[in-house]
Amino acid sequence: MTRHFLRDDDLTPAEQARVLDLAAAMKRAPYDAKPLAGPQSVAMIFDKPTLRTQTSFGAGIAELGGNPMLVEGRLAGIGIRESVEDVARVLGRQVSVVVWRTFHQSDLELMAAHAGVPVVNALTDDFHPCQLIADLLTVREQRGRLEGLSVAFVGDAACNMGNSWLLAGATAGMHVRVSGPEGFLPHQEVLDRAAEIGAATGGSARAEADPVKAVAGADVVVTDTWISMGKESEEQARELVFADWSLTPELLAHAAPDAVVLHCLPAYRGKEISAEVLEGPQSAVWNEAENRRHAQKAVLAFLLAGGEQPAVGGVT
Ligand code: NVA
Repeated sequence: MTRHFLRDDDLTPAEQARVLDLAAAMKRAPYDAKPLAGPQSVAMIFDKPTLRTQTSFGAGIAELGGNPMLVEGRLAGIGIRESVEDVARVLGRQVSVVVWRTFHQSDLELMAAHAGVPVVNALTDDFHPCQLIADLLTVREQRGRLEGLSVAFVGDAACNMGNSWLLAGATAGMHVRVSGPEGFLPHQEVLDRAAEIGAATGGSARAEADPVKAVAGADVVVTDTWISMGKESEEQARELVFADWSLTPELLAHAAPDAVVLHCLPAYRGKEISAEVLEGPQSAVWNEAENRRHAQKAVLAFLLAGGEQPAVGGVT
């Protein structure tokens, strides 16, 4: 069966743990199995800006023995020049995996339904699951475990990162609290799904209006830009409503003293995060950025093995 990674709950808790183990192993030692040897090509399509995702997939695909093929989203005009279904059927005849950053989750689902090869969500308006594998790997490196830890996401909790933290954190057995101003909290469907996952893993999920209550005692504190890609026209209005959710030293002081600070970047210092926090001793953001590559490689190897245990080659 062709496996896809379209949203965080496409992985069961056991599969998520397996992907994280694989990513950690790939980080520790060279990976000799080369599941993309041939080389097989992986199409990378970006309909929104990118730095970390393009470079980490590009380097990661090459390290797995494959050929990273950048498809210019603007020129391809997917859904504009030709339908998503037709593009999917063509790409599936050319490449082994499709990695796509786009706006609508429904378009990604259409691509997956018609490509016949694994499709990976490289960020949509709704979810950013590859980032979450890197984030969870980073927390695990810092704290040695995920299960039972509490995480607070503060800021635009209605954005892809808030949604993905809810689903991926609950899958890992974490207690996830997301906090944002009125109108910037996740859809009830995502909260309900995260709560359902948490009920099975021992984790939990809830929205919290007060950022101080959300951060209180948290083991991990996460934020993200207030102006996600595509929301640029709302910049001024958003900066006014989000001011109390800025991750300052004062807000961070409510978390556990050794709380890990994450930010998927790009970061806007003085807006959603203070420079002191971003550059401070609790920040793990540069390791988090590096971990994108190890995470992408593990996700690709997992999908190419059809969700089975991938051969680990030289990894010990
Ligand atoms: N929420 C942000 C994430 C950037 C990696 C955005 O969608 O722009």
